[in-house]
Amino acid sequence: MLPPRRSEYLFRKNFKCHLFQSNSIMCIHNNHVNKGITIRIQNEKLYTECSVATMQANEVAYGLINNATIAVRNGRIEWVGDEKSIPTSYQGMQRESLGQRLVTPALIDCHTHLIFGGNRAHEFEMRMNGASYEEISDAGGGINSTVEATRLASDEELIQGALGRIDNLISEGVAVIEIKSGYGLTIDHELRMLRIARHLESLRPVKIMTTWLAAHSVPKDFKHRLDDYIDQIAITGLRQAEKEGIVDAVDGFCETIAFSPSQIDRLFKVAQSLNLPVKLHAEQLSNQNGALLVAQYNGLSADHLEYLSAKDVKEFSKSEAVAVMLPGAFYTLKETQVPPIAALRSAGVDMAVATDCNPGSSPISSILTAMNMACTQFSMTPEEALKGTTICAARALGLQGNYGVIEAGAQAELAVWNATHPAELTYWVGSSILHKRIFNRELS
Ligand code: NIG
Ligand code: FE
Repeated sequence: MLPPRRSEYLFRKNFKCHLFQSNSIMCIHNNHVNKGITIRIQNEKLYTECSVATMQANEVAYGLINNATIAVRNGRIEWVGDEKSIPTSYQGMQRESLGQRLVTPALIDCHTHLIFGGNRAHEFEMRMNGASYEEISDAGGGINSTVEATRLASDEELIQGALGRIDNLISEGVAVIEIKSGYGLTIDHELRMLRIARHLESLRPVKIMTTWLAAHSVPKDFKHRLDDYIDQIAITGLRQAEKEGIVDAVDGFCETIAFSPSQIDRLFKVAQSLNLPVKLHAEQLSNQNGALLVAQYNGLSADHLEYLSAKDVKEFSKSEAVAVMLPGAFYTLKETQVPPIAALRSAGVDMAVATDCNPGSSPISSILTAMNMACTQFSMTPEEALKGTTICAARALGLQGNYGVIEAGAQAELAVWNATHPAELTYWVGSSILHKRIFNRELS
């Protein structure tokens, strides 16, 4: 059973939380000395004396406005612009100076598997001694070893583990997190993962988007019966998850060690009939034409894409799907094949960047590290990396217009940085430069 909803936020040992509730805007203050977090709630406010990387798609890099002001009312941005041209109707609002700091949209981690039991440090050690990810998987390790540990873990253990990773993301300015199932692989265990994912939203000031990833790996009892697994577990369970209202999107792992394109296609057909958007772990270890399948369904995103061919980029670019870059997995698996960034760029494909936080291929819960790696490992520009965790990440979750951009009508979810230029977000490594997060949500 899940614990009851808590009206107080429980933070990691070294986090302090003060909650002042009156209206609907909360400011999370990340104090560098004691990692204290202060939450205040305001109904309307004028944020002044800052530069704002709006991330609006215009000709100015980062959509940057220096000497800017942001007017916020009832949790929404009403106006952003040069401080000299604040409309008179906002002049009387309560003001808060941001001390010449940089403001960006609160960040979005659009691809994680952050609910799991145990860890796979021993497999990391095996890989560093020469074993490959596929060999470990074939020998019963890999995803299936996390499946065992996750099934054995209590709800509370899974919640506490996930909260630690969520707190890391929050301390780096993240306000929206996608969480996948995929470590249950029975209907009940997969549903449990999504219920826990939804429940986490009541424990922390973050928006959670849930993804059904039952087609992640083949459990032992379905070995050599992959089609049965797709029908009996992935599809049947998806229908239940949809009925229960706990699923926002459908994902799969299209790979030689997991599911074929035609098996994923059958799952996607059902997702489509339920009006659920699709996305896919595609071309991570080999080219399976997974990205093209996503394009056919005009899905939300194809993720990983190291083995996507230049020819397929063209086809993929005809859809609206986002290419999600996961440099943490590339780095951890010591992959050498880089995704075709230049081809994606010139084809005009939107690229997102995410942590892929999981215990196997990417034990990373730092979005800023993922952004740095997107630059250093994949040669994305700092501006592309920041688009990748704001405006493009919002598109990868179907949240465009509401999140990941500072413009009239969007949610007033902001990150305030101890920085003067947005390139600093990808430049510093290992130290969060977040000053505070401004987050909008109703508290229960
Ligand atoms: O995104 N590729 C499949 N899924 C994860 C790995 C999960 C795991 O190894 O536990 C990924 O890399
Ligand atoms: Fe993943």
